Amino acid sequence: MTTALEGVADAPREAALILRAAAGLEAKDLIVDPDAPLGPAAGLAERHAARRAAGEPLSRILGRREFWGLSFALSPDALDPRPETETIVEAALAAMSARRAESLRFVDFGVGSGALIAALLSEFPAALGVGVDLSPGAAAQARANLAALGFADRAEIRVGDWGDGLEGAFDLIVANPPYVASGDIAGLAREVREHDPRLALDGGPDGYDAYRALIPHVARLLAPRGRFFVEVGAGQAEAVTAIAAAAGLSDLATRRDLAGIERVVSGGRAL
Ligand SMILES: C[S@@+](CC[C@H](N)C(=O)[O-])C[C@H]1O[C@@H](n2cnc3c(N)ncnc32)[C@H](O)[C@@H]1O
Repeated sequence: MTTALEGVADAPREAALILRAAAGLEAKDLIVDPDAPLGPAAGLAERHAARRAAGEPLSRILGRREFWGLSFALSPDALDPRPETETIVEAALAAMSARRAESLRFVDFGVGSGALIAALLSEFPAALGVGVDLSPGAAAQARANLAALGFADRAEIRVGDWGDGLEGAFDLIVANPPYVASGDIAGLAREVREHDPRLALDGGPDGYDAYRALIPHVARLLAPRGRFFVEVGAGQAEAVTAIAAAAGLSDLATRRDLAGIERVVSGGRAL
């Protein structure tokens, strides 16, 4: 199996995951009896390995991705959630821990699979969330994931263009917008450029189009004590901080991800 995945980073781990998924095995089964015949599951494992070797991410082959300890179904319309996006959840928890029991209102711009809003609803048990996405397919996927996770009654998913048509004051606004410069998309790993939706990646000519469109909505919709957290690409924190400052947002800060990259720009509204 590992040979079939030649060229795939961390082939042994992915081979084990393919075998386990195809045959319904637990991790210990591969250790206790690594040579046990797979039976009819062998064909499925081979087909999955061939797709993985052709550049399809394992999460898309298996149709699921874990984020913040929760399991999300994926569809071609939704970005495969990334571990570094958990930095937003960490930052929001750190900043708002004193308000965890309040019935706060959240919005997640560019909701995708629903990973961020679901993670936040899991941590703030009295909160209500709105998720917005321009992609009807992503919105449908978010809706399905939130329902499967038991959050349907605390979340509303809308199809829309950032904050257009949205009113009200939100205590927490999060977004992981598309931030790859259009010209850089062709150079991304094929797992990303061929399998994540272009709408989830393309940040326009310089990568900042979504921030310029989105941040004025953040400034308009943030409650007086509210906080916002937006993910940024490597090297983008300073420019996004400047866009937020120009929109009148205050108390601006950045937070690094586990790789030490400035990953989140946050702030509040000037009082
Ligand atoms: C990088 S993905 C993030 C998805 C998800 N929040 C996550 O972190 O896994 C960006 C999302 O923004 C959505 N999007 C792009 N342009 C948008 C717009 N103008 N208004 C609302 N959503 C938009 C995309 O469809 C995509 O789902």
